[in-house]
Amino acid sequence: MSASPKTAATGLPDASELQLDANGRLRHLLTLKGLSRVGLTELLDLAESYLSPLHQPVIRSSALRGRTVANLFFEPSTRTRASFELAAKRLGADVLNLDVNMSSRKKGESVLDTIYSLQAMQIDVFVVRDAGAGVTSFIARHVHDHVSVLNGGEAHISHPTQGLLDLLTMRQAKGRFEDLKVVIVGDIAHSRVARSAAEGLNTLAVGELCLVSPDAFAPSPADFPGATLTNDLDAAMRGADVVMALRIQRERIGSYEGIPSIDEYYARFGVTHERMKRAAKGAIVMHPGPMNRGIEIESSLADGPQSRITRQVTNGVAVRMAVLASVMAAREQR
Ligand code: CP
Repeated sequence: MSASPKTAATGLPDASELQLDANGRLRHLLTLKGLSRVGLTELLDLAESYLSPLHQPVIRSSALRGRTVANLFFEPSTRTRASFELAAKRLGADVLNLDVNMSSRKKGESVLDTIYSLQAMQIDVFVVRDAGAGVTSFIARHVHDHVSVLNGGEAHISHPTQGLLDLLTMRQAKGRFEDLKVVIVGDIAHSRVARSAAEGLNTLAVGELCLVSPDAFAPSPADFPGATLTNDLDAAMRGADVVMALRIQRERIGSYEGIPSIDEYYARFGVTHERMKRAAKGAIVMHPGPMNRGIEIESSLADGPQSRITRQVTNGVAVRMAVLASVMAAREQR
């Protein structure tokens, strides 16, 4: 048995212990927990350097020339998978997108045998999305010393690159975290997005983080130290600078008992123009996607001037470039 401390959320050894190398540099990205304020800020600054205006050519670099990145998505994805692919290509890497449904995992091959086979083809970075808690850390413990594992979304536990792109989006809009009020509303209990955002915001000393959910989706307070938990969205919206709506994670819910109907949900927890009137002047609206318009967010609000939803997607490519470039730079210094 490992003597490592265990997380409240998973009961598994703390992933944050694994991700830095002996020099304190990023080897894997498994969680935002345990990354320092300086480390987070450096990643956000590097991501900024990869952004160009939408109508101009994308920024490219040769930081990953001769390297190969494998996308292993054992759960569906549009944004994360596409942006990791684009990020790797813009850094000069070859990219393998494993078609999981046509892979030998369907014939019963274990995840580790899949990894070992791909590693033998000189994969340098694995990007892994999986419904199982602890799978990305498990893989990280078993890859060769020179190989990095990046978490592309782990169960309800962690989505660190989503957390980074959300932090970048808030920083671009507001320029600071210390006196910001951030409201996240929806299915908090099952949300890896909320967990990673909260971990990053805590490290960056956010002014106030308020998590709003129906009682059926209320998380364990131990998973969100420092945050306020409530089921009263109207009260939470007062003075909010950032409002992030979340999707109901139907794929992670065992029982629907106690969950409001769609109409009731929208009436109590939908982020609408009317509710945004309670927020601070200049407040922004975010959503990690995929969105259910008219359930967790009013459609015209999602497309309106307060929305930063497409900016989040744009930032996703830059953030993933920053993470890929960072793990490769750390490798070259080992
Ligand atoms: N936000 C996010 O993770 O989206 P995808 O599931 O489309 O990757």
